[in-house]
Amino acid sequence: MEQFDFTTLINRGNAGAVKWQRRTQQEKDAHIIALSIADMELPVAPCIREAIIRAADGVYGYTNPDEPYFAAVRGWMERRHHWSGIQNDWIVCTNGVVPALNFAIRAFTKPGEGVMIQPPVYGPFAKSILTNERLLVENSLVFDDTGYHMDFDDFESKAADPNTKLFLLCSPHNPVARIWKRNELERIAEICLKHHVLLVSDEIHGDFDYDGKHITMATVSPDIANNCIICTSTGKTFNLAGLQLSNTIIPNPVLREQFRNQISITGCSNIPYFGYAATIAAYNDGEPWFDALLKHLRDNADYLEEFLTAHFPQVRLFPLEGTYLAWMDWRSLGLSPEELAIFMRKKAGLILGEGTMFGKQGAGFERINLAAPRAIICDALERLRVAAKSEGLI
Ligand SMILES: Cc1ncc(COP(=O)(O)O)c(C=O)c1O
Repeated sequence: MEQFDFTTLINRGNAGAVKWQRRTQQEKDAHIIALSIADMELPVAPCIREAIIRAADGVYGYTNPDEPYFAAVRGWMERRHHWSGIQNDWIVCTNGVVPALNFAIRAFTKPGEGVMIQPPVYGPFAKSILTNERLLVENSLVFDDTGYHMDFDDFESKAADPNTKLFLLCSPHNPVARIWKRNELERIAEICLKHHVLLVSDEIHGDFDYDGKHITMATVSPDIANNCIICTSTGKTFNLAGLQLSNTIIPNPVLREQFRNQISITGCSNIPYFGYAATIAAYNDGEPWFDALLKHLRDNADYLEEFLTAHFPQVRLFPLEGTYLAWMDWRSLGLSPEELAIFMRKKAGLILGEGTMFGKQGAGFERINLAAPRAIICDALERLRVAAKSEGLI
């Protein structure tokens, strides 16, 4: 028997789950499957469940991180990412990474100043820039037969514009699933240093590095550590997004002060009580569960690859180096992005991550969330096959 449960089907339909709520009543009645938003359809790690049950018997008062909390975060970063020497006061808590990105944008830039991203990329990057009335600067990723790459010349020309102040790196990259190599990280970090562009490295997917190759930006060099802030969280790793707690690690004291000031003007000064308990349990005791999860995800990814090769050989699947979100190019089917969306949702009864959610560069692509029991993945893929057959697409 498997040591951990990655097979039980959990109905989240009446639990306020955003992914499942975003269906019309008709779609709910038709049991449309959502493999869209990046949370997992899997039971929580037993050590976290136990910690939450213990906490449930406690007092739910105002809570702040203390030594056991910081030690758990430091220990995880050291063991999993070889980042030693993190000081407690470098670790700044927010209610999520997206809030942290917004704090960073407001702390380090003024309205009208440029913030650079690399689309196709996680939609809230662009949204955070635009809602804060900053200028969206796009350094689109490029791809060829070998996969996605950064366009360094374009990156440097945009970083060199004195109006560009901040760069939001997605590492590993959602949705293209790349783990950036050391030489890629060094190059963009050096360009940022040269042109005084501050680097925010969103590493929320950093633990999902199947081959252990993710490098946290802060360890690339001391100069770079001084010019970057690192966003981490148990939200993705242990599926705790609903507990609303993440850790932004900021080695540079001046940047830290600016970032903390932004939090303080919102009036937020404490952290969620259950998030506190869950984070300590996850980082101290959750490694065996997480390693088993990685294997489950890898198996799902292999299954997807075999399925596409067998039934949709014309659909290009990009290698899943990091994240649990697989990125596929569906353009060879000859459907417009609108037709593709109708095919997925109305014909196949599936909600995936539509490519354009990640920018115009994603048109004709789809992202599938593989963090689910295999039975759900099989059901979803079978729906695709049946719909494509009946539409004469395969
Ligand atoms: C790159 C990236 N950053 C941030 C988030 C969300 O972070 P949080 O839920 O902590 O706000 C996601 C969720 O999918 C993500 O993919």
